[in-house]
Amino acid sequence: MSAGPKVPTAGNRSKDSASLPNPSPAKGKPVTLSSLAEKKALGEPIAMVTAYDYPSAGVAEEAGVDVVLVGDTAAMTVLGYPSTVPVSVDEMLMLAAAVRRGLRTPLLVGDLPFGSYEVSDEQAVATAQRFIKEAGCDAVKLERGGSSVQRARAIVGAGIPVMGHVGLTPQTATALGGYRSQGRTADRALEVVEDAMALEEAGCFSIVFEAIPSDVTDLVMPRLEIPVIGIGAGPATDGQVLVFHDLLGIYDGHAARFVKRYANVREQMVAGVHAFAEDVRARRYPEAEHGYTMAPDERERLKEILATHRN
Ligand code: KIV
Repeated sequence: MSAGPKVPTAGNRSKDSASLPNPSPAKGKPVTLSSLAEKKALGEPIAMVTAYDYPSAGVAEEAGVDVVLVGDTAAMTVLGYPSTVPVSVDEMLMLAAAVRRGLRTPLLVGDLPFGSYEVSDEQAVATAQRFIKEAGCDAVKLERGGSSVQRARAIVGAGIPVMGHVGLTPQTATALGGYRSQGRTADRALEVVEDAMALEEAGCFSIVFEAIPSDVTDLVMPRLEIPVIGIGAGPATDGQVLVFHDLLGIYDGHAARFVKRYANVREQMVAGVHAFAEDVRARRYPEAEHGYTMAPDERERLKEILATHRN
Protein backbone atom coordinates (compact mmCIF):
# COMPACT_ATOMS: atom_id res chain seq x y z
CA MET A 1 0.00 0.00 0.00
CA SER A 2 1.34 3.39 -0.90
CA ALA A 3 2.04 5.92 1.83
CA GLY A 4 0.82 8.77 -0.35
CA PRO A 5 -0.99 9.55 -3.56
CA LYS A 6 0.90 8.67 -6.74
CA VAL A 7 -0.29 11.60 -8.81
CA PRO A 8 -0.01 15.26 -7.92
CA THR A 9 -3.33 16.84 -7.00
CA ALA A 10 -4.16 20.44 -6.23
CA GLY A 11 -4.21 19.38 -2.59
CA ASN A 12 -0.70 17.94 -2.41
CA ARG A 13 1.18 19.99 -5.01
CA SER A 14 3.94 22.11 -3.50
CA LYS A 15 3.90 25.87 -3.87
CA ASP A 16 6.94 25.63 -6.17
CA SER A 17 5.47 23.09 -8.55
CA ALA A 18 2.14 24.95 -8.59
CA SER A 19 3.89 27.99 -10.01
CA LEU A 20 5.65 26.05 -12.78
CA PRO A 21 4.40 26.52 -16.35
CA ASN A 22 1.72 24.19 -17.66
CA PRO A 23 3.33 20.74 -18.06
CA SER A 24 1.18 19.69 -21.05
CA PRO A 25 3.24 19.59 -24.24
CA ALA A 26 2.84 22.47 -26.65
CA LYS A 27 1.03 21.40 -29.79
CA GLY A 28 3.25 23.46 -32.03
CA LYS A 29 4.82 26.85 -32.53
CA PRO A 30 3.11 29.72 -30.70
CA VAL A 31 0.32 31.25 -32.76
CA THR A 32 1.14 34.76 -33.97
CA LEU A 33 -0.71 37.51 -35.81
CA SER A 34 1.11 36.45 -38.99
CA SER A 35 0.19 32.80 -38.57
CA LEU A 36 -3.48 33.81 -38.23
CA ALA A 37 -3.24 35.95 -41.38
CA GLU A 38 -1.58 33.01 -43.12
CA LYS A 39 -4.43 30.72 -42.08
CA LYS A 40 -6.89 33.15 -43.61
CA ALA A 41 -4.85 33.31 -46.82
CA LEU A 42 -4.75 29.50 -47.00
CA GLY A 43 -8.46 29.18 -46.18
CA GLU A 44 -7.69 27.22 -42.99
CA PRO A 45 -10.40 27.82 -40.36
CA ILE A 46 -9.32 29.40 -37.06
CA ALA A 47 -10.60 27.84 -33.81
CA MET A 48 -11.02 30.14 -30.82
CA VAL A 49 -12.47 29.51 -27.36
CA THR A 50 -12.77 31.51 -24.19
CA ALA A 51 -10.98 30.48 -20.99
CA TYR A 52 -11.05 32.02 -17.54
CA ASP A 53 -8.64 30.02 -15.38
CA TYR A 54 -5.57 27.77 -15.30
CA PRO A 55 -7.33 24.42 -15.89
CA SER A 56 -9.46 25.70 -18.79
CA ALA A 57 -6.32 27.20 -20.35
CA GLY A 58 -4.66 23.79 -20.08
CA VAL A 59 -7.66 22.23 -21.82
CA ALA A 60 -7.52 24.80 -24.63
CA GLU A 61 -3.76 24.23 -24.96
CA GLU A 62 -4.08 20.46 -25.16
CA ALA A 63 -7.07 20.64 -27.51
CA GLY A 64 -4.91 22.65 -29.91
CA VAL A 65 -7.06 25.75 -30.47
CA ASP A 66 -5.52 28.76 -32.21
CA VAL A 67 -6.78 31.64 -30.08
CA VAL A 68 -7.91 31.88 -26.46
CA LEU A 69 -10.00 34.84 -25.33
CA VAL A 70 -10.33 35.76 -21.69
CA GLY A 71 -13.78 37.11 -22.47
CA ASP A 72 -15.78 39.42 -20.27
CA THR A 73 -18.38 36.62 -20.41
CA ALA A 74 -16.37 35.56 -17.34
CA ALA A 75 -18.63 38.01 -15.54
CA MET A 76 -21.53 35.61 -16.03
CA THR A 77 -19.89 32.21 -16.44
CA VAL A 78 -17.50 32.27 -13.49
CA LEU A 79 -18.28 35.35 -11.38
CA GLY A 80 -22.06 35.06 -11.27
CA TYR A 81 -22.93 38.60 -12.42
CA PRO A 82 -26.20 39.01 -14.36
CA SER A 83 -24.43 40.51 -17.42
CA THR A 84 -20.93 41.34 -18.66
CA VAL A 85 -21.24 44.98 -17.57
CA PRO A 86 -20.17 44.84 -13.88
CA VAL A 87 -16.86 42.98 -14.26
CA SER A 88 -13.85 45.13 -13.32
CA VAL A 89 -10.40 45.42 -14.88
CA ASP A 90 -8.83 43.91 -11.75
CA GLU A 91 -11.14 40.89 -11.87
CA MET A 92 -10.39 40.38 -15.57
CA LEU A 93 -6.63 40.72 -14.95
CA MET A 94 -6.66 38.05 -12.25
CA LEU A 95 -8.45 35.62 -14.58
CA ALA A 96 -6.23 36.49 -17.56
CA ALA A 97 -3.05 35.97 -15.53
CA ALA A 98 -4.28 32.51 -14.49
CA VAL A 99 -5.00 31.65 -18.14
CA ARG A 100 -1.53 32.88 -19.13
CA ARG A 101 0.05 30.44 -16.66
CA GLY A 102 -1.72 27.54 -18.37
CA LEU A 103 -1.11 28.54 -21.98
CA ARG A 104 1.85 28.34 -24.35
CA THR A 105 0.71 27.93 -27.92
CA PRO A 106 -2.56 29.77 -28.68
CA LEU A 107 -2.63 33.55 -29.03
CA LEU A 108 -3.98 35.02 -25.77
CA VAL A 109 -6.47 37.87 -26.11
CA GLY A 110 -7.79 39.82 -23.10
CA ASP A 111 -11.23 41.44 -23.27
CA LEU A 112 -11.34 45.09 -22.16
CA PRO A 113 -14.36 45.33 -19.84
CA PHE A 114 -17.13 47.90 -20.09
CA GLY A 115 -16.03 51.34 -18.87
CA SER A 116 -12.31 50.63 -19.12
CA TYR A 117 -11.58 52.11 -22.57
CA GLU A 118 -14.44 54.34 -23.77
CA VAL A 119 -13.60 57.60 -21.95
CA SER A 120 -10.41 58.58 -23.81
CA ASP A 121 -7.52 57.23 -25.87
CA GLU A 122 -5.34 57.58 -22.76
CA GLN A 123 -7.72 55.43 -20.70
CA ALA A 124 -7.90 52.83 -23.48
CA VAL A 125 -4.10 52.61 -23.87
CA ALA A 126 -3.51 52.48 -20.10
CA THR A 127 -6.02 49.63 -19.65
CA ALA A 128 -4.67 47.70 -22.64
CA GLN A 129 -1.13 48.05 -21.28
CA ARG A 130 -2.23 46.47 -17.98
CA PHE A 131 -3.55 43.40 -19.85
CA ILE A 132 -0.16 43.04 -21.58
CA LYS A 133 2.12 43.88 -18.63
CA GLU A 134 0.24 42.43 -15.67
CA ALA A 135 -1.58 39.47 -17.21
CA GLY A 136 0.77 38.58 -20.09
CA CYS A 137 -1.87 38.84 -22.84
CA ASP A 138 -0.68 39.01 -26.45
CA ALA A 139 -3.54 41.25 -27.59
CA VAL A 140 -6.75 42.90 -26.37
CA LYS A 141 -10.32 43.00 -27.65
CA LEU A 142 -12.81 45.83 -27.49
CA GLU A 143 -16.44 46.10 -28.55
CA ARG A 144 -18.34 48.27 -31.09
CA GLY A 145 -17.53 50.61 -33.92
CA GLY A 146 -18.19 54.35 -33.51
CA SER A 147 -15.91 55.87 -30.88
CA SER A 148 -14.30 52.46 -30.25
CA VAL A 149 -12.63 52.75 -33.68
CA GLN A 150 -10.53 55.67 -32.44
CA ARG A 151 -9.74 53.79 -29.20
CA ALA A 152 -8.62 50.79 -31.27
CA ARG A 153 -6.41 53.08 -33.37
CA ALA A 154 -4.83 54.56 -30.23
CA ILE A 155 -4.10 51.11 -28.70
CA VAL A 156 -2.64 49.82 -31.98
CA GLY A 157 -0.57 53.04 -32.11
CA ALA A 158 0.82 52.13 -28.68
CA GLY A 159 2.05 48.82 -30.11
CA ILE A 160 -0.67 46.55 -28.77
CA PRO A 161 -2.59 44.27 -31.18
CA VAL A 162 -6.35 44.80 -31.09
CA MET A 163 -9.25 42.50 -32.00
CA GLY A 164 -12.53 44.29 -32.81
CA HIS A 165 -16.06 43.03 -32.09
CA VAL A 166 -19.19 44.08 -34.01
CA GLY A 167 -22.81 42.99 -34.39
CA LEU A 168 -24.25 42.03 -31.01
CA THR A 169 -21.97 43.74 -28.52
CA PRO A 170 -23.13 42.56 -25.08
CA GLN A 171 -21.56 45.49 -23.18
CA THR A 172 -24.10 47.80 -24.86
CA ALA A 173 -26.91 45.27 -25.34
CA THR A 174 -29.45 47.56 -23.67
CA ALA A 175 -28.88 50.24 -26.30
CA LEU A 176 -29.17 47.57 -29.02
CA GLY A 177 -32.60 46.50 -27.78
CA GLY A 178 -31.41 43.50 -25.78
CA TYR A 179 -29.50 40.31 -26.56
CA ARG A 180 -30.78 39.96 -30.10
CA SER A 181 -29.19 39.47 -33.48
CA GLN A 182 -28.08 42.62 -35.26
CA GLY A 183 -28.06 43.72 -38.90
CA ARG A 184 -31.38 42.24 -39.94
CA THR A 185 -32.36 45.32 -41.95
CA ALA A 186 -30.22 46.65 -44.80
CA ASP A 187 -29.63 49.93 -42.91
CA ARG A 188 -28.53 48.27 -39.69
CA ALA A 189 -26.45 45.72 -41.64
CA LEU A 190 -24.68 48.59 -43.37
CA GLU A 191 -23.76 50.04 -39.97
CA VAL A 192 -22.26 46.71 -38.92
CA VAL A 193 -20.33 46.47 -42.21
CA GLU A 194 -19.05 50.04 -41.88
CA ASP A 195 -17.98 49.41 -38.26
CA ALA A 196 -16.05 46.32 -39.33
CA MET A 197 -14.31 48.13 -42.19
CA ALA A 198 -13.45 51.09 -39.94
CA LEU A 199 -11.93 48.74 -37.33
CA GLU A 200 -9.82 47.08 -40.04
CA GLU A 201 -8.72 50.51 -41.27
CA ALA A 202 -7.81 51.46 -37.65
CA GLY A 203 -5.33 48.57 -37.59
CA CYS A 204 -7.21 45.73 -35.86
CA PHE A 205 -5.61 42.36 -36.63
CA SER A 206 -8.95 40.51 -36.44
CA ILE A 207 -12.65 41.09 -35.76
CA VAL A 208 -15.37 39.10 -34.02
CA PHE A 209 -18.80 39.09 -35.72
CA GLU A 210 -21.47 38.21 -33.17
CA ALA A 211 -25.10 37.29 -33.93
CA ILE A 212 -25.56 38.70 -37.41
CA PRO A 213 -27.37 37.09 -40.36
CA SER A 214 -25.20 34.76 -42.45
CA ASP A 215 -26.23 36.81 -45.52
CA VAL A 216 -24.57 39.91 -44.06
CA THR A 217 -21.40 37.93 -43.33
CA ASP A 218 -21.36 36.53 -46.88
CA LEU A 219 -21.62 40.04 -48.32
CA VAL A 220 -18.96 41.65 -46.14
CA MET A 221 -16.31 38.90 -46.09
CA PRO A 222 -14.86 39.73 -49.54
CA ARG A 223 -14.30 43.31 -48.34
CA LEU A 224 -12.18 42.44 -45.30
CA GLU A 225 -8.51 41.46 -45.38
CA ILE A 226 -8.12 40.58 -41.70
CA PRO A 227 -9.34 37.29 -40.16
CA VAL A 228 -12.97 37.40 -39.04
CA ILE A 229 -14.04 35.10 -36.20
CA GLY A 230 -17.75 34.37 -36.03
CA ILE A 231 -20.14 33.53 -33.22
CA GLY A 232 -23.62 33.21 -34.61
CA ALA A 233 -22.54 34.81 -37.89
CA GLY A 234 -22.77 31.80 -40.21
CA PRO A 235 -20.13 29.59 -41.80
CA ALA A 236 -18.42 32.14 -44.08
CA THR A 237 -16.11 33.66 -41.46
CA ASP A 238 -12.43 32.70 -41.21
CA GLY A 239 -12.98 31.03 -37.85
CA GLN A 240 -15.45 30.36 -35.08
CA VAL A 241 -15.49 31.08 -31.36
CA LEU A 242 -17.64 29.67 -28.59
CA VAL A 243 -17.71 30.34 -24.87
CA PHE A 244 -15.95 27.49 -23.03
CA HIS A 245 -18.74 27.05 -20.48
CA ASP A 246 -21.40 27.00 -23.22
CA LEU A 247 -19.73 24.47 -25.51
CA LEU A 248 -18.92 22.12 -22.64
CA GLY A 249 -22.27 22.54 -20.89
CA ILE A 250 -20.82 23.94 -17.66
CA TYR A 251 -22.92 27.13 -17.58
CA ASP A 252 -26.58 26.45 -16.88
CA GLY A 253 -27.90 29.94 -17.76
CA HIS A 254 -29.59 30.86 -21.03
CA ALA A 255 -27.77 29.60 -24.15
CA ALA A 256 -28.01 31.61 -27.36
CA ARG A 257 -29.25 30.00 -30.58
CA PHE A 258 -25.70 29.73 -31.94
CA VAL A 259 -24.42 27.61 -29.05
CA LYS A 260 -23.64 24.00 -29.85
CA ARG A 261 -23.09 21.81 -26.81
CA TYR A 262 -20.23 19.33 -27.27
CA ALA A 263 -20.42 17.92 -23.74
CA ASN A 264 -22.49 18.09 -20.60
CA VAL A 265 -19.78 18.64 -18.03
CA ARG A 266 -22.04 20.25 -15.41
CA GLU A 267 -24.14 17.10 -15.25
CA GLN A 268 -20.99 15.06 -14.65
CA MET A 269 -19.76 17.51 -12.02
CA VAL A 270 -23.05 17.36 -10.11
CA ALA A 271 -23.07 13.54 -10.34
CA GLY A 272 -19.47 13.36 -9.07
CA VAL A 273 -20.00 15.68 -6.10
CA HIS A 274 -23.30 13.94 -5.28
CA ALA A 275 -21.59 10.53 -5.30
CA PHE A 276 -18.87 11.87 -2.96
CA ALA A 277 -21.44 13.28 -0.53
CA GLU A 278 -23.34 9.96 -0.56
CA ASP A 279 -20.11 8.01 0.09
CA VAL A 280 -19.23 10.27 3.03
CA ARG A 281 -22.72 9.87 4.55
CA ALA A 282 -22.63 6.08 4.10
CA ARG A 283 -19.02 5.91 5.42
CA ARG A 284 -17.88 4.35 2.13
CA TYR A 285 -15.20 7.02 1.81
CA PRO A 286 -12.32 7.06 2.67
CA GLU A 287 -11.21 3.46 2.09
CA ALA A 288 -7.89 1.96 3.26
CA GLU A 289 -6.14 2.97 0.03
CA HIS A 290 -6.86 6.64 0.73
CA GLY A 291 -5.13 6.63 4.12
CA TYR A 292 -1.55 6.67 5.45
CA THR A 293 0.09 3.82 7.40
CA MET A 294 2.44 3.59 10.37
CA ALA A 295 5.05 0.88 11.04
CA PRO A 296 3.54 -1.73 13.46
CA ASP A 297 6.34 -1.28 16.05
CA GLU A 298 5.80 2.49 16.08
CA ARG A 299 2.09 1.90 16.52
CA GLU A 300 2.73 -0.42 19.50
CA ARG A 301 5.13 2.06 21.05
CA LEU A 302 2.57 4.85 20.70
CA LYS A 303 -0.08 2.63 22.29
CA GLU A 304 2.20 1.99 25.28
CA ILE A 305 3.03 5.64 25.70
CA LEU A 306 -0.63 6.63 25.54
CA ALA A 307 -1.56 3.95 28.09
CA THR A 308 0.69 5.56 30.71
CA HIS A 309 0.05 9.08 29.53
CA ARG A 310 -1.88 11.42 31.83
CA ASN A 311 -3.64 14.53 30.57
O1 KIV B 1 -16.64 37.87 -23.88
C1 KIV B 1 -16.69 36.93 -24.70
O2 KIV B 1 -16.68 35.76 -24.33
C2 KIV B 1 -16.78 37.26 -26.11
C3 KIV B 1 -17.00 36.14 -27.07
C4 KIV B 1 -18.42 35.75 -27.05
C5 KIV B 1 -16.52 36.49 -28.42
O3 KIV B 1 -16.71 38.41 -26.46
